[in-house]
Amino acid sequence: MLDIITLGNETLRKKALPVENFNGELAALVEQMAHTMILEKGIGLAAPQVGLEQRIFVCSPDQNDLYVFINPEIVETSEGICPYEEGCLSIPGVYADVVRPEKITVQAYSVDGKPFTIQADDILARVIQHEYDHLQGVLFIDRISERKREKLIRHYEKIHNLKKA
Ligand code: NI
Repeated sequence: MLDIITLGNETLRKKALPVENFNGELAALVEQMAHTMILEKGIGLAAPQVGLEQRIFVCSPDQNDLYVFINPEIVETSEGICPYEEGCLSIPGVYADVVRPEKITVQAYSVDGKPFTIQADDILARVIQHEYDHLQGVLFIDRISERKREKLIRHYEKIHNLKKA
């Protein structure tokens, strides 16, 4: 299993770089990421969360099907937006409603380098947008009001005993 880095680690704030080599190493990494996500009971995991600045994420919104996205681009978003409660394995224990487009179209590559396009709605659209943000160095707490963010971070520090005297 891979170690998941948490809030405060600078890698979470970096823009990840495109994958250039679709080889066995990439396939092994994707497998480890999927394994880690499942063990941590997450529904999505992006490479920066395991300390790697690469444009890769895996997700499994129903904890059954596994989706793998390499070098993804969100090419279309719906006008319709909706709130949905999000959490993140890199900010464990805290949750907030985040407003995002309801439907999206994504282009990406499979682990063996084949391009594909997927239209997603509901939880899949939500998870893809959350994970895509990770590749941009963006976290879900950046997408809530400052007041809510401060409150959430205080709670996060409290439950993880991070508060400095
Ligand atoms: Ni996350």
